[in-house]
Amino acid sequence: MNLSNTDKFNGIRTPFYYYDTDLLRKTLQTINEETQKYDNYHVHYAVKANANLDVLSIINEYGIGIDCVSGGEVEQALRAGFPADKIVFAGVGKSDWEIELGIDKNIFCFNVESIPELEVINEIAARKGKTANVCFRINPNVGAHTHSNITTGLAENKFGIAMEDMEKVILLAKTMNNIAFKGIHFHIGSQILDMGDFEALANRINELQDRLEATGLKVEIVNVGGGLGIDYDNPQDNPVPDFKSYFETYHKLLKLREGQSVHFELGRAVVGQCGALITKVNYVKQGSVKKFVIVDAGMTDLIRPALYDAHHKIVNLTSDAPEETYDVVGPICESSDVFDKDIKLNGTKRGDLIAMLSAGAYGEIMASGYNCRQLPKGYTNL
Ligand code: LLP
Repeated sequence: MNLSNTDKFNGIRTPFYYYDTDLLRKTLQTINEETQKYDNYHVHYAVKANANLDVLSIINEYGIGIDCVSGGEVEQALRAGFPADKIVFAGVGKSDWEIELGIDKNIFCFNVESIPELEVINEIAARKGKTANVCFRINPNVGAHTHSNITTGLAENKFGIAMEDMEKVILLAKTMNNIAFKGIHFHIGSQILDMGDFEALANRINELQDRLEATGLKVEIVNVGGGLGIDYDNPQDNPVPDFKSYFETYHKLLKLREGQSVHFELGRAVVGQCGALITKVNYVKQGSVKKFVIVDAGMTDLIRPALYDAHHKIVNLTSDAPEETYDVVGPICESSDVFDKDIKLNGTKRGDLIAMLSAGAYGEIMASGYNCRQLPKGYTNL
């Protein structure tokens, strides 16, 4: 991402998120180029990664659909101009009002995660005299080589319907007057860089499709979820994720039946690299064994390091002094309020501007007001 001109940040209250829209557009362009190689590949951007309205409007320009996990996300997607018939709506615990909203707006599909949820969707749809399209989220029991907090496709996780119940649930759906069964949905985890994990999922989907076919059950939609990771270590070298290998992996392995469409729910890979958290240095403090750079951003603005031991590359935008070793920490009253330890930065002083890179996904959207702090703003046009 381009952060060479820091003059444009003058006068903006720190910390804030800055989004490089050229990089976002390049990423979206690449996604479209790669998916257009194959018939019936559709990407739904996972809005949970970043719901900034300006960012969403740009994504919508590229004709990409949207994946929501709450009524609030559905509302935000509609506000940003996404057509309702490109909304998929997932989540293990949808409330009645959220289901009503989806039905009222005629969304493309609910990704349903349990029988009790299916029954409620059927009831609400019946009350409204409508039919709801549903896919079932199947828990494929496929592991992913990523942090345990962001693995979702194992039998022990709360997500999805157990594989052994798959036929039972589909047959039940078919008996319901206000449900249209459309397909199957999966998601094995996030920040996945090993294509082998997606291969394992594709193979598992093939097995399931064989099983369904043997029972005479027809599937129109195969939704493989998201999860493609980004390069947090070298964002400058790899600003656009490897979409080519990602879509190619599914294309090579997934055995599709006639008329089936494949849907993807990518979040991090779409927006991760285009965003940075910009923060100012409040103090540089020499401790007894360490030197601390204390910035005005905290774990309230970017929680990933505290929550997942994540590393975001940190750079000093306003110094070219010789490098020194620092711990970069925030002002929050928690010892986990640390962005990184023992990292090299150009010699840093009070007032310098620091950027935490690759923060476009699960950054601004996960900010909180803990310590009565203001939420950081996100800017696209500076
Ligand atoms: N589809 C479903 C059903 C999901 O649960 C998720 C993410 C996605 C799609 C999008 O996954 P992505 O393409 O972004 O990997 N806050 C964590 C990540 C949590 C991901 C939750 N689900 C982080 O900061 O690493």
